Amino acid sequence: MNEHPTSSFSSKFGLIMAAAGSAVGLGNIWKFPYIAGENGGGAFLIIYLICVILFGLPMVLTEFLIGKRSGKSVYGAFNELKENNHWHWLGWLCMMSAFLIMGFYFLVTGWCFNYLVEAIGNVFHGLDSEALAAHFTEVSGNKLRMIGFGLIPVVLTAVVLWFDVNKGIERLSKILMPLLLLMMILMAIRVLMLDGSNAGVQFFFNVDFTKVTPKVILEAMGQCFFSLSIGMGALITYGAYMPKNQSATYTSIQVISLDTIVALLAGVIIFPAVFAFGFNPAEGPQLVFVVLPAVFEQMSFAWLSSVLFFILLCIAALTSTISLMEVAVAFITEASKGRLNRQHSVLITSAIVIVLIVVCTVIPQSFDVFDKLTACIMLPIGALGMSLFVGWSLPAKNGKGVLRADKGARYWFGKVYIFMLRWLVPVAILLVLLNSLGIFK
Ligand code: PHE
Repeated sequence: MNEHPTSSFSSKFGLIMAAAGSAVGLGNIWKFPYIAGENGGGAFLIIYLICVILFGLPMVLTEFLIGKRSGKSVYGAFNELKENNHWHWLGWLCMMSAFLIMGFYFLVTGWCFNYLVEAIGNVFHGLDSEALAAHFTEVSGNKLRMIGFGLIPVVLTAVVLWFDVNKGIERLSKILMPLLLLMMILMAIRVLMLDGSNAGVQFFFNVDFTKVTPKVILEAMGQCFFSLSIGMGALITYGAYMPKNQSATYTSIQVISLDTIVALLAGVIIFPAVFAFGFNPAEGPQLVFVVLPAVFEQMSFAWLSSVLFFILLCIAALTSTISLMEVAVAFITEASKGRLNRQHSVLITSAIVIVLIVVCTVIPQSFDVFDKLTACIMLPIGALGMSLFVGWSLPAKNGKGVLRADKGARYWFGKVYIFMLRWLVPVAILLVLLNSLGIFK
């Protein structure tokens, strides 16, 4: 029996949109440009795209299948597929990753809400590059204000999960995604028409292989996991709600394509603008927050464009925080074996998250540690564990059988998938991790 704490999605399209909503978020629009900027632009982009192909498809699919087949959260999924196994720790790792990511993710979502409010107040009008950079430093330095704005998305996310309004998420995502894409395309066109934008295009698309270092490879892999929401069970949790007649294979391809398109668009907006306005591409986490307001100043309907964009950005971030928090809520509800209901779990999770937000604000180093630790270590280890679990540990009939749970899979595809899962994914993750420790020097 499926004892999953929430109802399933009402339509295939709804699940695709919710999973895409989880994937598309600050990882694409905030994190991707600044990590690419710090790691050499084109060199990073090419490694990132290789990671998406190498890890994205097998891992997104694996997580969906684990969820779809088991019908459980990360707490019970591994046991459901194989009794008395030793893979229980994977569920705990997933939940810990979820909490650590939430610690800084909610904070950055708070920055977005702050910028939305300021965009409405037309605060950025007439500010030049330097003033915009100074503005960010001032705003983010105000700890109480940041905690306050961080609480807004926590409350909104908790409300969505409290009432179990999947229908709401579905409906919202269906309108939001296309609108976000349209808005970003318009911004990209405008930016590409700016004088001096060419240098940015060069920076983003010209591959200089001398810049490919072990650090670049590790960060590109981490960014791929983070952006696709893999390695911490968000997609297992959503896979459990997948209608049984839905093809996990096609869903995976759609989610990955959408996520990659949005990341590329973000790069095409940010880098040409960075060079046209004289910013530094290796500016760090504040990059988009200082560059975007300068972009809007150049657009017609500047006020409307910026308000609309920040609304979309906030909602894109919220559809990701919903999936992050849902991992912990489903875990706690299931682990309590009936003692706690969904609402209790939402309260417990929110309380822990608020503590983590305060930690990230008060001790700025923890922001970086949570970010790097999850993306570059915990998510890859989570994915490594899942690939070994499905590829090797599940009894063959179950292992290959996970794919049989899927409608869309063809025979040859199953072969390729199993090969990637058993060999390519684990070996590649291990190599990248060892390489970053300097083992191969
Ligand atoms: N993929 C999300 C983003 O790009 C972040 C996320 C990571 C969400 C892991 C869920 C799980 O913004």
